[in-house]
Amino acid sequence: MTNFLIFGPPGSGKGTQSVKLASEFNLIHLSTGDMLRDEVAAQTELGKKVEGIMQRGELVPDDVVIQMIAERVDSNPGSEGFIFDGFPRTVDQARALDNTLAVKNTSISKMLMLEVEHKELVNRLVRRAEISGRADDKDVDIIENRIKVYKEKTEPVISYYKKENKYLPVNGMGDIEEIFNRLSKALADCIN
Ligand code: AP5
Ligand code: MG
Repeated sequence: MTNFLIFGPPGSGKGTQSVKLASEFNLIHLSTGDMLRDEVAAQTELGKKVEGIMQRGELVPDDVVIQMIAERVDSNPGSEGFIFDGFPRTVDQARALDNTLAVKNTSISKMLMLEVEHKELVNRLVRRAEISGRADDKDVDIIENRIKVYKEKTEPVISYYKKENKYLPVNGMGDIEEIFNRLSKALADCIN
């Protein structure tokens, strides 16, 4: 198994690139944001609990997402690997992920960090707001809050993987195919 994290601030292209990479390298794409939005859309107990938090651009509690990821990893035995998108977002989530993977005798190979300028992040999300229906894209203040929360709570996760020599920055500026080619090269180097 070869497992990757795709990392970066809101709007950096994690979702866009994960879908393409999962298909190219036969990996299972796990996005906690997508899973949580499904819960909200279905108005499950969990969905009702997290809806307001997501609308404000804050993080949902660690235990919620840690459990979601553990369940998905458990329910996909024999896969060639996972690409984690939007998880881990705190150091506690990173530790929990390591434990979940260790039980399966596997680990994270690389953290692929998408580097994108602040202005471009906001532009992409404002543009998406016109079509996505995502509550957390609708207001520039909420977009800015998501980026602030990323800087405060999620950026410390970078040091966690740097210490393990797993950190790999990738230029996330440019067109989608160009960035995909950069990421594909990085993944291919790890898999082979
Ligand atoms: P999540 O769904 O993870 O959202 P996010 O991190 O805010 O990021 P986005 O999904 O908006 O951006 P992305 O990097 O995936 O970029 P995308 O490819 O979509 O989380 C949402 C919420 O859920 C959180 O705020 C939190 O409340 C909760 N949550 C989720 N996980 C959690 C966790 N682990 N712990 C706690 N809470 C959690 O691209 C963005 C746009 O740009 C798209 O329109 C795309 O088409 C466009 N685009 C992409 N690439 C390019 C390009 N190269 N050029 C031009 N446009 C581009
Ligand atoms: Mg996303």
